Amino acid sequence: MEVIIQQDYDQMSKIAAQIVVEVINAKPTAVLGMATGSTPLGLYQELVRLHKEEQLDFSRVTTFNLDEYVGLGVNHPQSYHYFMHEHFFKHVNIPPHNINIPSGTTSNYPAFCQWYEERIADCGGIDVQILGIGSDGHIAFNEPTSSLSSRTRLKTLSKQTIDDNARFFEQRESVPIYAITMGVGTILDARKLILVASGKAKAEAISRAVEGPVTSMITASAIQMHRDATVIVDDEAAADLTMRDYYDFIYAAKPAAPRF
Ligand code: GLP
Repeated sequence: MEVIIQQDYDQMSKIAAQIVVEVINAKPTAVLGMATGSTPLGLYQELVRLHKEEQLDFSRVTTFNLDEYVGLGVNHPQSYHYFMHEHFFKHVNIPPHNINIPSGTTSNYPAFCQWYEERIADCGGIDVQILGIGSDGHIAFNEPTSSLSSRTRLKTLSKQTIDDNARFFEQRESVPIYAITMGVGTILDARKLILVASGKAKAEAISRAVEGPVTSMITASAIQMHRDATVIVDDEAAADLTMRDYYDFIYAAKPAAPRF
């Protein structure tokens, strides 16, 4: 796992966007795994800027989102469909039929989840998966005790996640308690992972995910098992990392490292 610590949110977002750009440049038909939450917003803004100012082309890109709230339609302002459309999809040139987001309103969740897994496989798998992290250490909506082999399925949110996400809703009672989410196993199948985190509220979750034991209590810790995972954090989110000097040393030494 590579850990990159940047001084602020903007720098964190730019470094993360650069990795996505490298993937698209190497493979114009890349399959991107998208995340919601406030943290990846800067990364999406940078990708939009590169599309508008530097002709970054998404015309052959396919996307799969991690998760969606159960019960929220695509036009609900707090749905992840709406979020992705407003903050990213409407600003770039991804063909609508290449955009995949779990349905929060299907009449048959098990069948939909199986179809979503099959569709990812039919598209050749995810080349790079963007991830945020919940304050309880979750990735997507894989709450504590989720199986580290889990696949796309319905999950009940934790109390902490409902509390965290209540800020986006008019009242806590309006936060859905169920979500449909890619599993930890689904995420680990992506060829590359980028996890972004910002702010002191994420410091403990980041230290447990990066330096703690691999445990279903912190599902983000499963990325320690991945062969190509990069964690990009700002100074505040890095505050509890004990090996911080080493991560900085590795990053500074990277340009001169032998490539083969
Ligand atoms: C939700 C999403 C996660 C996201 C998390 C953190 O729970 N399902 O994918 O990582 O929120 O969001 P934020 O970046 O706003 O802290």
